[in-house]
Order: sequence, then structure tokens, then C-alpha cells
Amino acid sequence: MVNKSALIIGNSDGIGLALTKQLLLLGWDVIGLSKSDSRIKDSKYSHLVVDVTADNFMQKLQTTLVDPPELYVYCVGIGEDFSIDSISFEQKVFQVNLMGAVKTIETVLPILIKKRGGHIIVLSSIADELNSPESPSYSASKAGLSSYVEGLALAVKKDGVSLSNIRFGFVDSKMAKGEKLPLMMTVDKAVEHVLCCVEKKPIRYSRPRIMALIVIAIRWFSRFKV
Ligand SMILES: NC(=O)c1ccc[n+]([C@@H]2O[C@H](COP(=O)([O-])OP(=O)(O)OC[C@H]3O[C@@H](n4cnc5c(N)ncnc54)[C@H](OP(=O)(O)O)[C@@H]3O)[C@@H](O)[C@H]2O)c1
Repeated sequence: MVNKSALIIGNSDGIGLALTKQLLLLGWDVIGLSKSDSRIKDSKYSHLVVDVTADNFMQKLQTTLVDPPELYVYCVGIGEDFSIDSISFEQKVFQVNLMGAVKTIETVLPILIKKRGGHIIVLSSIADELNSPESPSYSASKAGLSSYVEGLALAVKKDGVSLSNIRFGFVDSKMAKGEKLPLMMTVDKAVEHVLCCVEKKPIRYSRPRIMALIVIAIRWFSRFKV
């Protein structure tokens, strides 16, 4: 893979950082965008520091689109265990996980449709299937993201633009907290899955598959609980 370009949103850490490094190794030109600065030093890399909840986010994003990349990966995400003492954090989770992606798509999609090509990937979660008492805003924001992106993918297929919704279980980054993290995959494995999506452009991609099935079963059985 050479002479290809990508914009990775949320890449100062975790999956976004590992994906950025891997794309650079594969010869891609990469622009990164994150709340924190980047330590990556590479002639094919440039970085923009911006918070996706900031008023000027779309304006700053627009500056990266003068020569529009073909691939966009929204890796930004936050989540904490619910506490009534920090109820205001719930709103922030929706702004970051859902509205940041919606704003990214609003900025990028018209350009890709005009070009009749390009690929937008979002990192959602298998938790989109759950009504989670531990982290209700995280699950709900991911449910909104998954539903929006998969619907939009169908809407713009005729325009030659692809959207993919990746739903991971636990991935070994700073986001995965807690004592029980079953079937957790490494960040490098997660990057392998993202690269598989870059190639195949599926609308929905869930890994580990077994975890996606377990979560569907939990959701189904929970309907019978009163
Ligand atoms: N790890 C998991 O178990 C798991 C499972 C399923 C899905 N996912 C999803 O995968 C994605 C990546 O997660 P990860 O594990 O790589 O998490 P991570 O290590 O916490 O990385 C998240 C990235 O998003 C950036 N970010 C957070 N808030 C931001 C904001 N307001 N504006 C701009 N950038 C912001 C962070 O930058 P700063 O460090 O500067 O804040 C960081 O670069 C997330 O959407 C997450 O929900 C993760």
C-alpha cells in the first residue's frame, strides 16, 4: 500500500496511535488529530491538536481537507463508570463519542460524495447492544453511533462512498478498565482488524465475534427479566 492518505481522529493514544504508526510503516501519508500533542516524528505525518467538543473543531478539521485523504478513522472515545456525583460527565460522553463523529461526518462526507470515493470508519463498541447500568452513557452513545453510521452507509452507497462501523469488545488500552475484561484483544490485533476493514469496507464489523453473540444473547434474555 503506497501513496495513500488517511486522517486519524483521536490518535494520541490507544488504537488510534497504533493504527497511525502501522499506516506510516505501510507508506501512507497520515494526518492525526487529537486533544493532546503527538510524539510521532515522521516526514509523512502531521498533527493537529484539537478537542472534538471545541466550537472550532469543524473549522480546524476543514483545514486538513484541502487535499482530502481517502480514509478517515474516528477513534475518539471516552467512558467512565456511572456516578450520580458526576452526572454532568454523561453529557460529555455523548458530545465526544457521538456528536464528535457526527460533526466529522458532516464536514467530510459532502467532499467525499463530490469526489465519488472515500471511506469513513468509526470505532464503536459491542456495548452498543447493552442497556448498561455500569456505563449507560457509553453504551447509549455507541448505540447512536452504530445506528447512525450503518444507516448512513446504506444512504450513500450509491455515491461511491463507504462507511464502516467497527464494534470491538475489550481492547488492551487505557480505556479498558475493571477487573473482568473477558476475551480482551491487544491493540495490535485491533489494528489488524481495522486494516481488514480498510480493505473490505464492510458496513458492520464486530470482534471478537463470540463476544458479539454473547451480548446479543444477554440482550435477548434481559427482555424476560421484570
Ligand atoms: N479499549 C477498549 O476496550 C475499547 C472497546 C471497544 C471500543 N473502543 C473504542 O475504540 C476507540 C479508541 O479507544 P482506545 O481504547 O484507543 O482509547 P484511548 O486509548 O483512551 O484513546 C482515545 C483517544 O481519543 C482521544 N480523545 C479523547 N477525547 C478527545 C476529545 N474530546 N477530542 C479529541 N480527542 C480525544 C484521546 O486523546 P487524549 O489522550 O489526548 O485524551 C486518545 O487519543 C474509542 O472510541 C473506544 O470507545 C475501545
